[in-house]
Amino acid sequence: MASPPYAGRHPGWPARLGPLQVAAGVVELRGPRLTDGRAWSRIRMRDRDYLENWEPTAPGDWAERNAPTAWFSQWSTLRALARRGMSLPFVITVDGRFAGQVTVGNVVRGSLCSAWVGYWVATDAVGGGVATAASALVVDHCFTVGGLHRVEATVRPENAPSLRVLAKLGFREEGLFRRYLDVAGGWRDHLCLALTTEDAPGGLVSRLVAAGLATRP
Ligand SMILES: CC(C)(COP(=O)(O)OP(=O)(O)OC[C@H]1O[C@@H](n2cnc3c(N)ncnc32)[C@H](O)[C@@H]1OP(=O)(O)O)[C@@H](O)C(=O)NCCC(=O)NCCS
Repeated sequence: MASPPYAGRHPGWPARLGPLQVAAGVVELRGPRLTDGRAWSRIRMRDRDYLENWEPTAPGDWAERNAPTAWFSQWSTLRALARRGMSLPFVITVDGRFAGQVTVGNVVRGSLCSAWVGYWVATDAVGGGVATAASALVVDHCFTVGGLHRVEATVRPENAPSLRVLAKLGFREEGLFRRYLDVAGGWRDHLCLALTTEDAPGGLVSRLVAAGLATRP
């Protein structure tokens, strides 16, 4: 039987991205670690009301799914998907501290070379350019080392902060997916926004730096 493409390592993984200075602090991206469980759980328990409204519905209770002990299965799933070339899962740190996650998922190669990007940021780090910087770093990485041609994001029309992140990065709105994803207990419409390499010839980080929204420390 033929080996799957990119068995073991695949373009773009593993990687460390950044640093990038924004209003909230110094943003860096790295792979998830088994030792992230305590910080991950503390933030997700505290920020439940803020996060639950925007995240895909999952079986089980929030407290159980986000307990420190739940991190092991999250971490091992992310690691397995990354090793198989299907995902690039990053932890976002701000000034060295765990502050959220940005994930590139559903990586499809061949004649599509496409993936989606998703993110969340802890409430004590929001509003300071963290998600915008993290997404710029990850999209630039996908379009260079990662060998992808297109990255898309699907967002509920009500999610103004997330739409603002994508607007700052220059994502194009491509359409509305009706009852697309089961979020917060119901099938929700989502806007689809996307970028292809042709849309960002100089890279998104350079665009943010030129706009005065980030600096390279
Ligand atoms: C969406 C999210 C990741 C943004 O993170 P962040 O680090 O605050 O993002 P940034 O600071 O880079 O940009 C947020 C922008 O939204 C703006 N914003 C915040 N609340 C807003 C609101 N209610 N209406 C309009 N704009 C809003 C901010 O002012 C900022 O824009 P600005 O830089 O022009 O002032 C964060 O709010 C989050 O984790 N939300 C919950 C999970 C989620 O929605 N994930 C995305 C699913 S598609």
